[in-house]
Amino acid sequence: MSGTCVTPAHRFSVAPMMEWTDRHCRFFHRLLTRRALIYTEMITTGAVLHGHRARLLAYDAAEHPVALQLGGSDPRALAECAHIAEDLGYDEINLNVGCPSDRVQEGRFGACLMAEPRLVGDCVAAMKGTVAVPVTVKCRIGIDQQDPEEALNVLTSAVNDAGVDALIVHARKAWLEGLSPRENREIPPLDYDRVYRLKAAHRDLVVVLNGGVASLEQARAHLNRLDGVMMGRAAYQEPWRLLEVDPLLFGEPAPFATPKAVAEAMMPYIERELEAGTRLHAITRHILGLFRGVPGARAFRRHLATEAVKPGAGSDVLAAALSQLMDSGENLAHIAA
Ligand SMILES: Cc1cc2nc3c(=O)[nH]c(=O)nc-3n(C[C@H](O)[C@H](O)[C@H](O)COP(=O)(O)O)c2cc1C
Repeated sequence: MSGTCVTPAHRFSVAPMMEWTDRHCRFFHRLLTRRALIYTEMITTGAVLHGHRARLLAYDAAEHPVALQLGGSDPRALAECAHIAEDLGYDEINLNVGCPSDRVQEGRFGACLMAEPRLVGDCVAAMKGTVAVPVTVKCRIGIDQQDPEEALNVLTSAVNDAGVDALIVHARKAWLEGLSPRENREIPPLDYDRVYRLKAAHRDLVVVLNGGVASLEQARAHLNRLDGVMMGRAAYQEPWRLLEVDPLLFGEPAPFATPKAVAEAMMPYIERELEAGTRLHAITRHILGLFRGVPGARAFRRHLATEAVKPGAGSDVLAAALSQLMDSGENLAHIAA
């Protein structure tokens, strides 16, 4: 039966986001929450099989639980990539059935697969036949002129029959022509009721809602009706929210009492990465939104944005940026206790 071997980590996850959820970002997010499931950027089967695999699939052991998102539509290639990823220790393999970009459409994968549910089922079956870790799908409620009622039902049946372990639904349509990927995250209206109906009709399937969730309070409300919530932009742009995931959604202490303590805990990682040739900005660009309402937050951001990009910038730049923050006394000790 599907849905039984998925970890409770599906309760809350951070969405896969190209150019954003790279390994530095994921390491940072893991310091903010031990329990959220985190996803890589989408990596295509072609890149895994023919590209710089070691670099593309590299991750830090501290990131677990971490899911690899694959883009592709050839069942054999997906099975091979899933096998490679499982060997590397990834905790879940996710198939992208939601990305609307032109490049992805040309490759006949992503959101356009909403129109090919049987093929998606074959892809899931091929991966399930190869790996023991959970295989999941992230989809839309439909594309273009599709009726979301029927399109999502048909896709769900196909992946359910193939043994999918969870279905993550971005609760809006994608329009494959006329809208950019960014517009496709904003213009088609959100339809949470469609996802609630899906769950009501498939009690045994793990259903995760994604799209427009702006706070953990909203996430908690969805969790009354669904198995999980996936947060994308709000988690990335306002990462301080993640520090409350463990206390509010899992009843466990936050890993750190304050956002500042999290930034300080990044230091050893930053030193290690600089040593290995990573540029400071590649890491610090992900932490710009860490402070909310703390006096000096703007100066912190400005200092990092201007200084961390300079050649040879070292960890002292982050230390100097942190020193711009006033000690406001704001912390999470009350929920970390
Ligand atoms: C910069 C960016 C890159 C994204 N890249 C991916 C991706 O690689 N794979 C994917 O399934 N979705 C991708 N998405 C979509 C998100 O995973 C998510 O479905 C969408 O942002 C809606 O969730 P939100 O409203 O919580 O942000 C991306 C979104 C953004 C903002």
